[in-house]
Amino acid sequence: MTAQALIDTAQALVAADKGLLAMDESNATCHKRFAKLGIPLTEDARRDWRELIVTAPGLGACISGAILFDETIRQRTSTGTSFVSALDAEGIIPGIKVDTGAKPLAGHPGETVTEGLDGLRERLAEYAGMGARFAKWRGVITPGAGLPTRACIEVNAHALARYAALCQEAGLVPVVEPEVLMEGDHSLARCSEITEDTLHAVFAQLRLQGVLLEGMLLKPNMVLPGQACPQQESVEEVADATVACLLRTVPAAVPGIAFLSGGQSAQLASARLNAMNQRFKSRLPWALAFSYSRAVQQPALDAWKGDRANVEAAKKALVHRAQCNQAARRGNYDATADAPKGA
Ligand code: 13P
Repeated sequence: MTAQALIDTAQALVAADKGLLAMDESNATCHKRFAKLGIPLTEDARRDWRELIVTAPGLGACISGAILFDETIRQRTSTGTSFVSALDAEGIIPGIKVDTGAKPLAGHPGETVTEGLDGLRERLAEYAGMGARFAKWRGVITPGAGLPTRACIEVNAHALARYAALCQEAGLVPVVEPEVLMEGDHSLARCSEITEDTLHAVFAQLRLQGVLLEGMLLKPNMVLPGQACPQQESVEEVADATVACLLRTVPAAVPGIAFLSGGQSAQLASARLNAMNQRFKSRLPWALAFSYSRAVQQPALDAWKGDRANVEAAKKALVHRAQCNQAARRGNYDATADAPKGA
């Protein structure tokens, strides 16, 4: 695999104002979301849900790549097409989550380190053989009293960089996801400080491990006040703080930054991305895109509820959210027209 092929894939993932769709929830996370809607917690239900997503007509016009879970990349639609082929047919690049989850960090109560490096070279070769062209690894940074520790930031940055180097060796574009959680009562200023520290550590490790910045994407959190913080800044203030933080930390060689949604409402995730692009797009070295799971999937999941009769409505809801986020990349998202019904 040449460096140019990695660069081409990374650029394709942020081209045409499209974004990524994260549909790589572990079974436990998927079941948590299903349970709230009374959807059966079964492999069949997970497959049905993922089939609904990959067969939604028009999704490829606004989604460039989809991040699959190990179970899903091995599954087929009810007509016998592999999920990878169904995505290819829509012009969506298949990707794969390759970390094995955030586990308690020894000696650091309340913090985690993401695992999955053992055997990763072999797993990446297998996924590449199955048609995956990019991969994802999520490190978790938890704000709190005295947290995060330097140890937590450094071990997660180190793991992200080792993962990214292995991905590029295997010809897969690494999506590097250090997530500062929005759970908690921390302020926007504190989130900004932690995100800045984290991104500096991540890019220092990426450099140390020789990762080609032009052949990767960054998937960070937005700079937000904690969910329980009494002061909630405006959409514009979040946009300004997020872009300021990224300008201080992310090298211009990185082709794109695709945000995670992290538990924001679907509308806020679109509005904040929109504000960033509206205010700064012409002055930024990288594309500002999206790689949402909940903020794209949740309204569709709410519409589906596990009922075959709702499949078409759910597909429409899914494509609608993807379109809203494509509009947000263009700075054209109309938050008023997209207000949740009854709001
Ligand atoms: P959310 O957009 O729901 O935060 O998920 C993004 C993701 O891929 C988390 O790893």
